[in-house]
Amino acid sequence: MNCRKIKFGIIGLGLMGREFASATARWCHLPDFAMRPEIMAICDVNDTAFPWYLNNFPTITQTTTDYTALLANPDVEAVYCAVPHNLHEQLYCDIIRAGKHLMGEKPFGIDKKANDKINECLRQHPGVFVRCSSEFPFFPAVQVIGRMLENHEFGKIIETNSGFLHSSDMDTSKPVNWKRRSATNGEYGCMGDLGIHACNMPFRADWNIANVRALLSDLVPERPDGKGGITPCDTWDNATLFCEASGEDNLSFPLTVKTQRIAPGQKDTWYIEILGMKKSARFSTKNPKLLEILDYTNGSQAWQNVDMGYETAFKSITGGIFEFGFSDAILQMWAAFIYELHNGKPLSKFAACVTPAEAALSHRLFTAALESHKKHQVAIL
Ligand SMILES: NC(=O)c1ccc[n+]([C@@H]2O[C@H](COP(=O)([O-])OP(=O)(O)OC[C@H]3O[C@@H](n4cnc5c(N)ncnc54)[C@H](O)[C@@H]3O)[C@@H](O)[C@H]2O)c1
Repeated sequence: MNCRKIKFGIIGLGLMGREFASATARWCHLPDFAMRPEIMAICDVNDTAFPWYLNNFPTITQTTTDYTALLANPDVEAVYCAVPHNLHEQLYCDIIRAGKHLMGEKPFGIDKKANDKINECLRQHPGVFVRCSSEFPFFPAVQVIGRMLENHEFGKIIETNSGFLHSSDMDTSKPVNWKRRSATNGEYGCMGDLGIHACNMPFRADWNIANVRALLSDLVPERPDGKGGITPCDTWDNATLFCEASGEDNLSFPLTVKTQRIAPGQKDTWYIEILGMKKSARFSTKNPKLLEILDYTNGSQAWQNVDMGYETAFKSITGGIFEFGFSDAILQMWAAFIYELHNGKPLSKFAACVTPAEAALSHRLFTAALESHKKHQVAIL
């Protein structure tokens, strides 16, 4: 098949920049794709990041510490931007204004004001394809849950619990970094870091969220500064959002969304649990092969353990019985971005990246959560 290359620039060559680059190197896992990403330009203010990219990607012809130079390169068609949250508004708007397609990182603006500006810029440039990264829906078990939602298999929803839990911040000797400072990570704290991941399935299910009661915790208010001193760590560590949600039947149900950086025993746990009158389902990355389903239509209270393999949305050369992991989810997410860019529509409802409208909804939710916690009240969205 004649496979067109789409020339990418990466701005922000840290943790996530490397994940994208590695995914492009594994594109051969995805047969039958009409388009493939090729990295041709890289940018980071820290040029010590360049050698890993240059050693592994001979297609790179531009390295720069100035992102405007990358945007001025007429050969760059699309950009992956993975930089600290305080830079999202300026860089995403400049990328969109330069006419480059954009995969942006969450939270898609440090706060609601920044997110509004990005969306305004997008409205002025409708020809640019823009999506936000969130890879967890691409785990095979979550794709099954997505199809169950599409087919209305749950019946009336009783309740839903979703979340994303980390634990490395339990180590109080861990030095502060930009993700632990309000100025660079944002007032949302853990919600800005983990929230879009925790909300992506409820948002994609088109559930309306009417209001939220939030409880936020700042468990570690200061941390080592990495230079022998101690410095404020002024971001929320943990957030629990109790939301009133409803589906297309307009019947409300509780939706609990947890984002925690201090969750004992949870290294990197993304989970979703949907309990319904006909069927229930749950999945956690703690046990990534296991999909649990309870089918009450036969009258029994029996959770079934379904052993999932590499049953992906986008066809892969990897055998269907093999295990699926984080970097596979990243590859599938990038397949969804490239597929939708090429075809103008996603492969399916749940095999798609987070849209700017969904990112905007997350900002309404997290802004309401901040208000709720501050006033000890329910906040209306
Ligand atoms: N999808 C996910 O699972 C996931 C996971 C972690 C982080 N993220 C998101 O990715 C983004 C980046 O996080 P990360 O973990 O890769 O951070 P990181 O600190 O590892 O990398 C950020 C990079 O941006 C560079 N940078 C800073 N200012 C810059 C500028 N003006 N121009 C160019 N480069 C600049 C830094 O030097 C650094 O190399 C954030 O929005 C974060 O929330 C997403």
